[in-house]
Amino acid sequence: MKAIAFLLVSVASMIVVAASMGPVSGRADEGGAPWVTEKPAGYRDWQWVSSAHEAGKLNSLGAVLGNDVAMKAYRAGTIPFPDGTILAALHYVNSPSAENDKIFGQPQSFVPGAPTNVQFMVKDSKKYAATGGWGFGHFNADGKPVDAAFMKPCFPCHAQNKAHDLVFTTYAP
Ligand code: HEC
Repeated sequence: MKAIAFLLVSVASMIVVAASMGPVSGRADEGGAPWVTEKPAGYRDWQWVSSAHEAGKLNSLGAVLGNDVAMKAYRAGTIPFPDGTILAALHYVNSPSAENDKIFGQPQSFVPGAPTNVQFMVKDSKKYAATGGWGFGHFNADGKPVDAAFMKPCFPCHAQNKAHDLVFTTYAP
């Protein structure tokens, strides 16, 4: 009886360990990069760096925000960005605004519609050494975690912009 109880406890703890490893564990396995697994706190209150609209299939309207370390580096033109820099890219469906168009008298106004995802770049040159010192993060609007395959293309594409420390967005004055 004791042995069975012990076995049950062992199996239960193995399940807990397996569950906590989860699909988004930030492990540097599968040849991929470690990535950001939790949304940085308070990012919605950060300052605006710039915006971008992606047409085509993405049809997105995005705002890039930076924490204090990021804003200081942007304003001083510091490249590479120092450790502690965090950039957040908030993405929405690029949506026509019927209300605004009515006022303008023609279809011309586009505003952020439903949120689609939030992406992050966290600078920690030791922790994320394998991906240029940046930890990439992606969080869908539905809150569902993304897997290693989804995170794989982030670094190789951003790595094309080595001259600006892998960051595409420039500061809009
Ligand atoms: C095909 C290339 C490409 C891939 C793949 C890609 N990005 Fe980007 N990313 C860009 C470009 C170009 C911009 C700037 C334009 C924009 O914001 O739409 C950008 C902007 C960003 C920004 C704002 C800071 C900056 O560099 O401008 C973050 C944060 C970001 N991407 C995170 C991610 C994450 C996380 C992934 C993986 C899930 C990812 N990106 C995959 C090209 C890419």
